[in-house]
Amino acid sequence: MMDDLSSLREKFLEELYRTGDLAGLEDLRVRYLGKKGLLTNQIKELGSLPADQRKQAGSVINETKAFVEREIGLKRAALKDKELREKFASESLDITLPGSYCAPGKLHPVTQVLNEITSIFISMGFSVEEGPEVELDYYNFEALNIPKDHPARDMQDTFYIENEIVMRTHTSPVQVRVMQKSKPPLKFIAPGKVYRCDADISHTPMFHQIEGLMVDEGISFSHLKAVLENFLRSFFGTGVPVRFRPSYFPFTEPSAEVDIGCIFCGGQGCKTCKGSGWIEILGAGMVNPKVFEMAGHNPEKYSGFAFGMGIERITMIKYSIDDIRLFFENDLRFLGQF
Ligand code: PHE
Repeated sequence: MMDDLSSLREKFLEELYRTGDLAGLEDLRVRYLGKKGLLTNQIKELGSLPADQRKQAGSVINETKAFVEREIGLKRAALKDKELREKFASESLDITLPGSYCAPGKLHPVTQVLNEITSIFISMGFSVEEGPEVELDYYNFEALNIPKDHPARDMQDTFYIENEIVMRTHTSPVQVRVMQKSKPPLKFIAPGKVYRCDADISHTPMFHQIEGLMVDEGISFSHLKAVLENFLRSFFGTGVPVRFRPSYFPFTEPSAEVDIGCIFCGGQGCKTCKGSGWIEILGAGMVNPKVFEMAGHNPEKYSGFAFGMGIERITMIKYSIDDIRLFFENDLRFLGQF
């Protein structure tokens, strides 16, 4: 029996050595220590031994059993540790690896310029209003002193939705809408999209304008000059020359077009300013008394000025862009430059 036990012990050690996972270890345990296990069988055989050998054999079996239990316990701990390490290794994340690049979005250059212009006027105390893009003929033309047969209707190639409904050709109808719902003093700008049936290097069927209106008692042309000069110098630089040229709009009287000295040639004359040394920026004028009457305000009491400018045009001048269509092609090589 003693020989059996020592070879059992050797066999166990050899098998233990070859066991590589927890399931195999459990098999091994059952095979030695289970109800019908090899060591358990030895204990059962004790009874058949002569009495004088029984005691010694019993203590060797117990000692072997304790040895097997201890070894299995140690191996279990080692295997658990190994499995955990393997799990960590397979699930590990290398946070030092560079991530895949995700280009941040940017505001469209037209939006950037629109925001910049808006904040200059807000700093002068103007508020911001809006009006509909699908507009009544009445607000787009009639109430702005452009009756049906007026030649000024030819200046703007209008998209008609229905007989009396148009895509607004300018932001000026917002002047009338705001004047109808609120009493002076008024001091606001109205940015937004406008539509004209026109397409070439400097025209697109949709573009953006900013309208401005200031109405109160005693507003004069010098207020108009001060506000617009201050705006143009804030936007294009303090030293930029500004000039007012007489012009005509049915809804303002007198009317002016406002130019800045060419920022590309410094007034010498170049391709951009067509040799004139000046670049036209916006249209403006004193609100025509007829417009006050149609909006329900007394032109004897109130006076005011209005102005309007194209945002794409101003963006093109600011960034030296020679084709307006670039704004609407959504080419990231173009848009990414702003
Ligand atoms: N609405 C005019 C245009 O689109 C611009 C303008 C606005 C002129 C206000 C004078 C006053 O050309």
